Amino acid sequence: MTELEGKVALITGASRGIGAAVARQLAAANVKLGLASRSGDDLGIEHAVARQCDVRDPRQVDALVAAVVEKHGGLDIVVANAGVGAYGRFLDLSPEHLDEMIDVNVKGTLYAVRSALPHLVRGGEGDIVTIASEAGRRGLPYEAVYCASKFAQVGFTRALDHELRESGVRCTNVCPGGVATDFALEAGRGRTHDVLPGMMSADDVAEVVVFVLTRPRNHRILETAFRPMTEPSWG
Ligand SMILES: NC(=O)c1ccc[n+]([C@@H]2O[C@H](COP(=O)([O-])OP(=O)(O)OC[C@H]3O[C@@H](n4cnc5c(N)ncnc54)[C@H](OP(=O)(O)O)[C@@H]3O)[C@@H](O)[C@H]2O)c1
Repeated sequence: MTELEGKVALITGASRGIGAAVARQLAAANVKLGLASRSGDDLGIEHAVARQCDVRDPRQVDALVAAVVEKHGGLDIVVANAGVGAYGRFLDLSPEHLDEMIDVNVKGTLYAVRSALPHLVRGGEGDIVTIASEAGRRGLPYEAVYCASKFAQVGFTRALDHELRESGVRCTNVCPGGVATDFALEAGRGRTHDVLPGMMSADDVAEVVVFVLTRPRNHRILETAFRPMTEPSWG
């Protein structure tokens, strides 16, 4: 028996990287899962509701949330994790890169929370965990649009805390530094300071998410910031 046993969680961007690590750790804690990604991977997790879901399309998000609630009988946790990045000088980024970062990182978070929130409120003790970034706390070189998208996530989640506290729903920004995943490797990451030896693992981040979710319900963690020892803290 764990504190999380029997809870139901929706994780966006669950097919690999941080989202997959969160899914595996929550499954190990007997959380029932809904998994969203464009590939629809179920990670081999028994009873998970997994389907192709592009978080840029609110109808696809609504359909997945409805399927999760129908199968698992409710929804308690949203981990808004799906994200993309393209690094480089602002004027070198294509309009498609701009749109994708804003649409997936910002609108995808809004759509997932919007669709899930009535169920969290109904359950009386929900959790929204947004996987933001250090890039949501500081302006970083060659990450102007990515930073804009991550600041938006952080602002949204912090603001939502005010209106949800009395309904028992907690809101947390998780802001890691560099994590060793495939993230943005095709889109400029690796040519900046961001890819360094000694980066954290996706499991390191997932452990922080589990820590946040297992705090006693008399308090909430608003933001966690953590980064590899090889990475400066940029003031
Ligand atoms: N890696 C880092 O250094 C780092 C640091 C701080 C914060 N973060 C944040 O952590 C989150 C996860 O990053 P990661 O490192 O795990 O990246 P990753 O390995 O590239 O995984 C990204 C996940 O998002 C999904 N995804 C992308 N576009 C999507 C869309 N339109 N709809 C649904 N799912 C979509 C991908 O699945 P499909 O391709 O199957 O759709 C994949 O499961 C992101 O929000 C990122 O900004 C990462």
